[in-house]
Amino acid sequence: MDIKQLNVFIAIADCQSFSLAARSTGISQPSLSRMLKQLETDIGVELIDRYHRPLQLTESGQFFYDKISAVLTELATVTSMTQRLSNPSTALTIGFVPSVLYGLLPEIIAALKRRRPDIEVNLKDISSYQQIEALKSGDIDVGLGRFAHRDPWIQQILLRHERYMVALPKTHPLAHTRDQRLIDLVNNRLILYHQTHLPPAISVMTDATPSAVPINATPIIENAITEPLLHLFAQYGITPLMTTKVSDLQVALSLVAAGEGITLVPASLQTVRAEQISYQRLIHENVTSPIYLHTLKDVVHPKVPDFLNAIYEVYEQRGITYRRQQFV
Ligand code: BEZ
Repeated sequence: MDIKQLNVFIAIADCQSFSLAARSTGISQPSLSRMLKQLETDIGVELIDRYHRPLQLTESGQFFYDKISAVLTELATVTSMTQRLSNPSTALTIGFVPSVLYGLLPEIIAALKRRRPDIEVNLKDISSYQQIEALKSGDIDVGLGRFAHRDPWIQQILLRHERYMVALPKTHPLAHTRDQRLIDLVNNRLILYHQTHLPPAISVMTDATPSAVPINATPIIENAITEPLLHLFAQYGITPLMTTKVSDLQVALSLVAAGEGITLVPASLQTVRAEQISYQRLIHENVTSPIYLHTLKDVVHPKVPDFLNAIYEVYEQRGITYRRQQFV
């Protein structure tokens, strides 16, 4: 059994056709067929049922596919990490979710450039989950997101908890009310914008915010509410009466500006559309959104510690509460 045969098997299973797999791999159909047969002979198991069209995996083939896909992905990660270890890129590529861009990211990058004037920084707008794959493939060197991840290749540093604020149209009766309570918002249309939902182990907790919950928390209730904003309300036993789901934060704030509803956003967003939107604090101190920094565990880009120090420098300057952490 060799890696070429395994890749051929995966390609045939993905394409469910020898001719499509031949096109996608650039290997002739007879060679593909021979390599698959050889693999099946080597392990003594029929992996693909050739009598069905499109081709189908046998039951054992499906098991082999699931396990071998994971092994090949891991192999690709190890190879790419080894290459990066021997030859780290000079540039630091930072993946970020849009909500951190509106806040301190520009200031932090300026602080990093003051510390390391020769540094080249690339920025990539990339979702929290995609950041994990991008770290493994080497597309980014560090990721900034608002969700905790549990992955054997990844280490995460919790940078801080940022308070949520309520965003209301300027014409709303509560637009000028400070320190609002979630219960007073229940009759408004709540605009939901998160694409990523909370992992069930976190979302089932009731007595803490999602951000305050340890990643290995034990579930205590069934039927978790995994939508992050609904989860915040649910912690207080509140269910908003009307909701609308949109594709992202910008759209949500545009709808608020248009008077279509209200939403909750991290405090750093409060400069967005400030002519049309009023941002007010919530009285609940634990209604917060965490900010995490993710990197690979074993191959940390040499400039990442400088980046972390630049973050802490900005926190110090701004008097932001945080707990200093280090890479493992
Ligand atoms: C923050 O708002 O805490 C933050 C933003 C960008 C990068 C790192 C931290």
